[in-house]
Amino acid sequence: FNEQHFRDQLIDWFDKEQRILPWRENQDPYRVWVSEIMLQQTRVDTVIPYYHHFMNLFPTPKDLADADEQAVLKAWEGLGYYSRARNLQNAVREVVQDYGGIVPDDKYKLKKLKGVGPYTQGAILSIAYDQPEPAVDGNVMRVLSRILNIDDDIAIPKTRKLFEGLVYELISESNPSAFNQGLMELGALICTPKSPSCLLCPVQDQCRAFAEGVESELPIKSSK
Ligand code: ADE
Repeated sequence: FNEQHFRDQLIDWFDKEQRILPWRENQDPYRVWVSEIMLQQTRVDTVIPYYHHFMNLFPTPKDLADADEQAVLKAWEGLGYYSRARNLQNAVREVVQDYGGIVPDDKYKLKKLKGVGPYTQGAILSIAYDQPEPAVDGNVMRVLSRILNIDDDIAIPKTRKLFEGLVYELISESNPSAFNQGLMELGALICTPKSPSCLLCPVQDQCRAFAEGVESELPIKSSK
């Protein structure tokens, strides 16, 4: 396994093949934040129209902070998991009050915001602020468990920490945004839960699970 080769293959593929998505138009941390919250329990295709509508209604942190909660919940109607919307508005109000409406570029400040867990922190820091921080969700664990043939149970919370450690080692220091989004995009387009498209995979030659023919057995996820 060649780390530099892996980074280059992943980032080159992402640069060429990434989907055009509304939250990829720029690196505005507020836009990245809203997209990652919406995407946490909801599919990309479902999120897109909601995202456009939400951004038209609340284009900046100040707009969201000043809005009535009912207007925010109304814009979220149909996405479900409404605590996401309430937490997001509360956290954005904190950003407006404490940081002048600028989303912090600091792990420890982000961590204190309502609804911002390790995944969202890492996504904001890497995608918006180009910091080499992991953003590990289920997709990323699936992709890395196959590439590195890791059979740890992804249903166990501490397994995410194991993958975060691996991303710290693997991540591109020069383009952490494309690296993390490349992992997510590979999980969405190629390294899918069922019948992954290994023959189209840009990192097939590096994939230990493919080499051993065990890609469909990974990741291990106990159902509990
Ligand atoms: N799923 C989670 N985050 C995503 C992103 N930034 N782009 C596409 N799919 C995602």
